[in-house]
Amino acid sequence: MTHTPHRLEVENVSVAYGDKNVLNEVSFQVTHGARIAVVGPNGAGKSTLFKALVGLLPLKTGRILIHGLPLGNHKDCVAYIPQREEVDWRFPVSVRDVVMMGRFNSHGWFSRPNPADAVVVERSLAEMSIANLSDVSISDLSGGQQQRVFLARALAQEPHILLMDEPFTGVDITTQDATLKLLDRLQQRQVTTIISTHDLNLAATRFDMVLLINKRLVAFGTPAQALTQENLQKAFGNSLLVMDSGAMLVDACCPPDEEHHHDVVVEPFFKNGV
Ligand SMILES: Nc1ncnc2c1ncn2[C@@H]1O[C@H](COP(=O)(O)OP(=O)(O)OP(=O)(O)O)[C@@H](O)[C@H]1O
Ligand SMILES: [Mg+2]
Repeated sequence: MTHTPHRLEVENVSVAYGDKNVLNEVSFQVTHGARIAVVGPNGAGKSTLFKALVGLLPLKTGRILIHGLPLGNHKDCVAYIPQREEVDWRFPVSVRDVVMMGRFNSHGWFSRPNPADAVVVERSLAEMSIANLSDVSISDLSGGQQQRVFLARALAQEPHILLMDEPFTGVDITTQDATLKLLDRLQQRQVTTIISTHDLNLAATRFDMVLLINKRLVAFGTPAQALTQENLQKAFGNSLLVMDSGAMLVDACCPPDEEHHHDVVVEPFFKNGV
């Protein structure tokens, strides 16, 4: 019997900050080339999951396997684009240098970039249409341009798995479209992409699979399987409002002390999971 290894296997993973459990026994498997949306309310543990997947946080329980081997054997094949507000953009570094950082994993921080690295960097800048910004300091960029720089850096890394934390939040429509087009090209190259979003319509229409979490795994399946009213209710609780039309309104921001609100309407065709 031939066994096709999954690219990514998450087994029974729990993560805590101190004694506060944030992810509890999460398990799922992803085959190569899939496009997965990670959906859940604020504080659900989406960013925490990403940090665990890239080895930035220790696991309290469980393990993460890539190509059948534990994390650490494969650091360079996982690229991670953090949520933009987690990055200090005042750092005085040029766009080209940030993109070149994507190459350091492949040959270490202290070796000099070689001509092949420069070619990959220029190609990545061009692919994200920011070659004209190469010498600009990242502190002088708009949100959408910053997003493109991070995408170019991830491309330069030539990853097998790309994690993007909320790339569609707070960016202009052109950058959103550029990101979606990039996702199509990455899929053709068999790159697995895992993307958190508060936009349930995007999750429903542009992704192969949806991972619904709220500190634990609520559902993992095709958008129609995962985004049912029952599952959304489990994940979002009282912030899910079902209209007479069958449309569902999610106030993704649960705690009243949080500033930002995202109201997202899910089209009624997902109401019954069809
Ligand atoms: N460094 C940290 N130390 C302690 N608690 C943390 C830390 N980072 C996150 N948390 C807490 O862990 C929980 C999950 O946070 P996380 O950022 O993973 O959620 P999220 O789903 O990404 O939310 P959002 O949609 O707002 O980005 C939250 O309760 C958060 O306050
Ligand atoms: Mg987050």
